[in-house]
Amino acid sequence: AATSDAVTQVKNIQSVVLGKWEIETWYYSPLPPEYTGLNTLYVCEFTLKMFRSREALERHWARNPRRHPPGTEIYRKDHISVFEVDGARNRIYAQNLCYISKLFLDHKTLYYDVDVFWFYVMCEVDELGCHLVGYFSKEKVSDEHYNVACILTLPPYQRKGYGKFLIALSYELSRREQVRGSPEKPLSDLGLLSYRSYWSQVLIDLLREAPHPLSIEEMAERTMMKTEDIIGTLRALDIIQYYEGQHIIDLRKVQDMKLGSRGLPFDPQALRWTPPG
Ligand code: ACO
Repeated sequence: AATSDAVTQVKNIQSVVLGKWEIETWYYSPLPPEYTGLNTLYVCEFTLKMFRSREALERHWARNPRRHPPGTEIYRKDHISVFEVDGARNRIYAQNLCYISKLFLDHKTLYYDVDVFWFYVMCEVDELGCHLVGYFSKEKVSDEHYNVACILTLPPYQRKGYGKFLIALSYELSRREQVRGSPEKPLSDLGLLSYRSYWSQVLIDLLREAPHPLSIEEMAERTMMKTEDIIGTLRALDIIQYYEGQHIIDLRKVQDMKLGSRGLPFDPQALRWTPPG
């Protein structure tokens, strides 16, 4: 859901220290008052606890040996891992994740009620631990069949294909639930660019590989995308026309289409997950 008030509010934190990065923030976030009015906010990348100084963060590390997010590790391949975090069981972690992501999102309502969301937290793994790189949240129950509420790649990791990895994961969860999904609207500019790029690749690959022309319905069945996203994407690529009550796809344009970079490959075989309940 969009807010009009958040858009006009000015940045209240200039940078966040997270793991090895000091990241300049983009937008206002309604952080608890004890953390605002600071130039720099110090955040533990494993527990997401927030501190006003580096010394306090280091004391926290000395006391807390945990070097990964809470929740269940549901994906591990090469140096990438994903944890599923229940917002109700890890409320402080989930709220802090929302506060931090709001620093890079200008249009989303911050959900204080994190209980009703799952959080899929993506990490790069090395000998020091599992380092947060991005995440998406997902309503436990969505009447509109949204499969992503909020998606973020932390700025130092953007444009490396991690967003596409997260989007591919969100559609694989939809596939296992047997529910066609779509991200919550409105999308940000960067959100729309990323989804358009992901959707285009998936659909063009599908159309190129199909032994016979596919209907929109068949494409939805195979990709778990909603038909309106399929039609919107094919229209934006200018390869579909509506003619005498039918959608006609220009297969020559499909063959000639140039696609962007592939993103970090998501391997469904490395996902250990079945729908809850
Ligand atoms: N300029 C132009 N195109 C871009 C840019 C950019 N800055 N960022 C992403 N794209 C497009 C490109 O087409 C890119 O593919 P390419 O590199 O092959 O050209 C494609 O999006 C995907 O890029 P990824 O590297 O897979 O995505 P990334 O890891 O950068 O994450 C994300 C994308 C999550 C949207 C990131 O930009 C982000 O966190 N932005 C801030 C938060 C935000 O706006 N989130 C989406 C809100 S909408 C929602 O939550 C449902």
